[in-house]
Amino acid sequence: MARLKLGVLISGRGSNLQALIDAAADPAFPAQIAVVISNIADVQGLARAQAAGIPTAVVDHKAHDGRPAFESALTEALDAHQVRLVCLAGFMRLLTKGFVDHWRDRIINIHPSLLPAFKGLNTHERVLDSGVKFTGCTVHFVRAEMDEGPIVVQGAIPVLSGDTPDSLGARVLAVEHRIYPLAVKLVAEGRARVVGNAVRVDMPDGDHDTAAQTVVINPAG
Ligand code: GAR
Repeated sequence: MARLKLGVLISGRGSNLQALIDAAADPAFPAQIAVVISNIADVQGLARAQAAGIPTAVVDHKAHDGRPAFESALTEALDAHQVRLVCLAGFMRLLTKGFVDHWRDRIINIHPSLLPAFKGLNTHERVLDSGVKFTGCTVHFVRAEMDEGPIVVQGAIPVLSGDTPDSLGARVLAVEHRIYPLAVKLVAEGRARVVGNAVRVDMPDGDHDTAAQTVVINPAG
């Protein structure tokens, strides 16, 4: 079967992009990266794509007169590569309703918290200040409201006493690198479908039973 064509939008380091590049290096992975687009030139993520032989483009928001013009240029670049699923991977621009509606149910994002908790920036600092005992990361379909939308996959980890934003962020990031390829795989295989505000995921019975048994308690006591 033809692999689903991805367009990955980045603004920086691109470690989640790298996780997708590594997953897609397996010919059995049901998606391939058709283009990587950054709104900032010379970021590490572009170098990662180039090293993997993936086409890249820079669509600089500052070079466009307003958000709709910037987003038209993004859609043009995505269409030029026949992209069918847009993956935001550390893409740090807010998107208008027009763009999000155009790509509705064909655009996903990764966010470093267990949404709907801790939308926005500086999540790990706010998690530590709040005293919650678990945090994690979320891949979700994108809606016009920031960090809103049907959730495809979440990964949860305990917050440890003594954690700093950096130590917590590093553990969350390692989980991000696992759940983003998984979410793309589920969407590409047609096993994750938006139903209302949720995503219904078709899972093998065995996996479902294992998940149903999973309990994590923190502190373990
Ligand atoms: C990741 O932690 C991602 O979840 C976060 O930016 C980082 C990008 O890292 N995204 C957001 O905060 C979006 N609201 P990366 O460039 O190494 O993938």
